[in-house]
Amino acid sequence: TSNYFLHLHCRCLHTTVGFLKKKTATENWWLERHLKDPFVKATKQQNYRCRSAFKLLEIDDKFHILRPGLSVLDCGAAPGAWSQVAVEKVNALGTDPSAPTGFVLGVDLMRISPLEGAVFLPEADITDPNTLRAIQSLLPAGKVDAILSDMAPNATGIKDLDHQKLISLCLGLVNLAQSILKPKGTLLCKFWDGHESRVLQNRLKEQFREVKTLKPQASRKDSSESYFLARLYKGK
Ligand SMILES: C[S@@+](CC[C@H](N)C(=O)[O-])C[C@H]1O[C@@H](n2cnc3c(N)ncnc32)[C@H](O)[C@@H]1O
Ligand SMILES: *[C@@H]1O[C@H](CO)[C@@H](O)[C@H](O)[C@H]1NC(C)=O
Repeated sequence: TSNYFLHLHCRCLHTTVGFLKKKTATENWWLERHLKDPFVKATKQQNYRCRSAFKLLEIDDKFHILRPGLSVLDCGAAPGAWSQVAVEKVNALGTDPSAPTGFVLGVDLMRISPLEGAVFLPEADITDPNTLRAIQSLLPAGKVDAILSDMAPNATGIKDLDHQKLISLCLGLVNLAQSILKPKGTLLCKFWDGHESRVLQNRLKEQFREVKTLKPQASRKDSSESYFLARLYKGK
């Protein structure tokens, strides 16, 4: 065997599996599943940075949340696959000169490699008030048409705790919407299902005219991950 490493993005965690290292049973199971996964193949073929691109593509195919000219905030954007999809869909590069040009801003705690057509705010915590100020200063119109969030905290493995942490992140986004989401705007957020999902769902229902729960095909079957798609923001 040659001395090489395979760099894999599993759920966009930057996991490295060394072939020379003796792998544990879990790593073997994970690697095998990864290599068989049709979405992983498609990710490579279509040059997306992460297989999660297909979740957004699937949601957008069905509900048409992104279109040329829209401005989008992508929360938890690293490594950048959702931003890649958003750049294409909102025509952020002006690739289609006959359609309006949109805008994509991605924010993450992590660094993100540059992407043509997107503006990134890396090493920024969305829950930090300084981040909100930075976002506002970067938005051409001060507000966005859509807030997307594929954010996830580092999982501790304690299901209840992870669930609660992600729900609080999402509730924070609902507050953020007050400052930066245009009336009639859209909020799409990932959550891990659990007893507090209802709290988030109810809050969304107060603030948006339409709230749907989605489980994309591209989400792994063994994951408790779902998305709330909230549309037609009531604004203030
Ligand atoms: C599943 S990954 C996102 C993958 C991304 N949608 C893509 O397609 O490339 C989740 C990201 O959320 C980020 N994140 C978690 N908590 C955050 C926070 N408080 N502020 C900003 N980003 C956060 C993590 O750093 C991680 O990169
Ligand atoms: C997850 O852990 C990594 C490494 O410790 C850290 O850099 C990153 O900020 C953490 N992400 C979250 C969402 O807490």
